[in-house]
Amino acid sequence: MVTRTLIIIPTYNERDSLPVQVDGVRTACPDVDILVADDNSPDGTGEWADARAEQDSHVHVLHRPGKQGLGAAYLAGFAWGLERGYDVLVEMDADGSHRARDLPAVLNAPGQWDLAIGSRWVPGGSVVNWPKHRLFLSTNANRYVRVMLGLHVKDATAGFRAYQASALRSLELSSVESQGYCFQIDMAWRVAKAGGRIVEVPITFVEREQGVSKMSGAIIREALVKTTVWGMKERATQVRRAFHRQ
Ligand code: GDD
Ligand code: MN
Repeated sequence: MVTRTLIIIPTYNERDSLPVQVDGVRTACPDVDILVADDNSPDGTGEWADARAEQDSHVHVLHRPGKQGLGAAYLAGFAWGLERGYDVLVEMDADGSHRARDLPAVLNAPGQWDLAIGSRWVPGGSVVNWPKHRLFLSTNANRYVRVMLGLHVKDATAGFRAYQASALRSLELSSVESQGYCFQIDMAWRVAKAGGRIVEVPITFVEREQGVSKMSGAIIREALVKTTVWGMKERATQVRRAFHRQ
């Protein structure tokens, strides 16, 4: 059986970056399909994607009414892909940070997996051109996730990852509320809690050269608050279970 793979690329104002990323993915993996999930970008990203989709049957576009966050864009993309019977659904940024040439390694991650993460923080992984504050943020976010959630993933905030459709189908995606980049932590934790197998493959993350990051204080706060609440709830559940056993 041929594996049908869908690469979901969320976009907000990525007019200069997206064409390069779409070309890169089409060249690196000519058989995969691409879904651009655009939040009505004012810079015309959605229009470019429409024009591209007309010429290339491997490219599709999902138009969303306005900027509703990375999490919402991916959930809509997952629903689109699951409805159409794709076997593997992949998350990838539009800005070139997730190199198309690393895509085969993520898709061919060793062994049986439910979630394969393109990881910056396993041996062989790296980050190029990130300012000190972003390195600090990523390192500490991952440390906090490990301590609070007991999630043993080195790069839990990574946005370059592949899910088996079967794994996504087994999760209750309608209850995912994460809007910003904590969506990544949320999803990794859900897969782990459901007993799914997570593997990490080293990748090189290269900071964008065009456009700007959408990272913000609100996105950091959401991740911090949600991770803390999830961790506390998990502890409370563990304590309750221990009492019941006695
Ligand atoms: N549709 C949509 N809606 N797309 C969005 C939104 C949104 O509200 N916010 C961001 N995106 C898209 C961007 O257009 C880009 O394609 C991708 O999501 C990543 O956004 P960036 O703004 O480039 O993220 P970053 O480089 O700062 O952060 C990277 O690292 C984070 C921390 O490790 C990304 O890989 C994140 O996924 C990752 O969590
Ligand atoms: Mn980026």
